[in-house]
Formats: sequence, C-alpha cells, structure tokens
Amino acid sequence: MAHIFCTKTIIDASFKLLLDSGHSLEVWDDKRDGPISYDILVKKASQADALITMLSDKIDKNLLDQCPKLKVISQYAVGINNIDLKECENRAIKVFNTPDVLTDASAELGFALLLACARKIIPAYENAKQGKWRGWEPMGFLGKSLKGLKLGIIGPGKIGQEFARLCAKGLEMEVSYFGPSEKPEFAAKRVDLTTLLKDSDIISIHCPLTDDTRELIGENELRQMKADAILINTARGEVINQDALVKVLKEGHLHSVGLDVTSPEPLSPEHELFQLSNVLIMPHIASATVKARIDMANLVCENINNFI
Ligand code: DGY
Repeated sequence: MAHIFCTKTIIDASFKLLLDSGHSLEVWDDKRDGPISYDILVKKASQADALITMLSDKIDKNLLDQCPKLKVISQYAVGINNIDLKECENRAIKVFNTPDVLTDASAELGFALLLACARKIIPAYENAKQGKWRGWEPMGFLGKSLKGLKLGIIGPGKIGQEFARLCAKGLEMEVSYFGPSEKPEFAAKRVDLTTLLKDSDIISIHCPLTDDTRELIGENELRQMKADAILINTARGEVINQDALVKVLKEGHLHSVGLDVTSPEPLSPEHELFQLSNVLIMPHIASATVKARIDMANLVCENINNFI
C-alpha cells in the first residue's frame, strides 16, 4: 500500500477512492496562508510513494534526490512547468496532470477577462461604488465593441480552441492561431507570430510555459500589436516579459490587458501593473469553478490509484 502526500486541501470526497484502496494519505494542513514551504514539501515528499501537487509546488532535482520511494506525481493542474520532467523521467517517476476537465472553466474565465477589459467593467464598478456616479453619462466608460473583430490565439490547445469557439460563435470573430503544429480540427488559420501580432484585435495566450515560450512576448512583440489591441493571458505569467508590458502600457500602447497569471504569483499589490486602470489582474482562478475542481480532484486521485 502506498503513502500519499497531498500539498494542499482539495475537495476531499475524492480521497475516498484512495482510502478505500487501503492507501495512507496525509493532506498538508494549510490553515496558514499560501502554499506549503519548500522545506516542508521536501521533508514530506521524502517519505511518500505518491504526491498530489499544486502548480505552486517546486518539484526540482534537489527535492527528487531526497525522495527514494517516490513513484508517481499527480498534479492538480493542467500546466506542469513547476515539475522538472527530465529529472522525473531519469528516475522513472510517472507524472500526471488534469487536462480536459478544466478546459471549459479556463476558457470561460478568459472570455470573462476579455469582456471586462473591453467594457471597462471594473473601473465602472469602482467608480459607482466610490460614489462618483452622478447620473447617466453619454461619454462615460466608452468601451471597445468586440463583434466581428480578429482574434489571435497563441497556443491552440484545448483551452485556446474553446476560448476561440466562444469568441467565434458568440461574437463572430475571425480566428487565427500561432503554434508549433497544424491543428486540422481547429477551424482557424495558422499564421506566423508576427502576422498574428500585427493583424489581431484581440490576442489570447494559452500555450504551456516551456523554454520556447518563456518571454515569447517581449517588448518587440508587444510593439507589433495594434495600439488598441486587447491582450489576455490565462497561461503562465512568464510567457510575457512583464517589465516590457509595463513599459509599453505606460506609453499608452494597447487598449487593455487581462491577466489571470503573473510573474511572480502572488503579485505584490505595489506592482506597477496594479496601478494601471486598463489592466485587470485575477489571482490565477481560471480553473476555479466547483465543477472543474471536483473533476480535477477526482482525476488526480484516479490517476494515482490506477497507476499504483
Ligand atoms: C492550470 O491548471 O495549469 C491552470 O493554470 C489553472 O488555472
């Protein structure tokens, strides 16, 4: 029977599967704030046969060197850039993630960010809440119409394709994409990155974070975007060079930016991005629906149970 360590509280009804199979389970008591510390993670992981990890847990060579029993890691996320996959492979440690079950939730959050950015939802709400609502304003909070605009998807995986479907079906957008391979199932045109940046009114990032995509969007790429483009990122903060983003935004480039992800996370409330009224930042909540989180919890447990 295996000993499983889970680094954060998740929907615990799913643990029944593991407990019924006779495995022992420890869930890190996270009544304190934030993710488990690296030192505690190393200590707990060193005793475990299996780990349930969060995207905030750093699973690196140093940790793996101290985990002689570890056979399987089941990540409670689709992105696994926090895990050194090469080092896992060297040790024959199997790594699972949770694709598919969070596709709709993540695409919907991207869509919500897009609408909120285009229509200045948060600034308008803050204005009303702060008692600055004086009456109906013919010139107040004029937003950007979205219907029929050109959408560029960076990273046409399942989430990118679902986000594009919402925009194409709901808002009649014309979609193109940039990615490492042709996607025959995706009814959109594959283009090179420069074409996508120059032609799109909306650019939405959905690629995994890899050596190829780290800072894929730097100052040069940001400047290639239309001056009134909307940029959405629900992938990983590190795909955008954040300093460059602040720089171009302060110069008045881009209509608005919606970020579910930043670098680092959490982003300090003092960060310059929080001072810009056309930037909307969410605390990485793309998969945070009850349905997605139940399905994710079931899947992480099934993955371990089936593997063991
Ligand atoms: C993931 O699962 O990788 C997403 O970032 C969650 O929002």
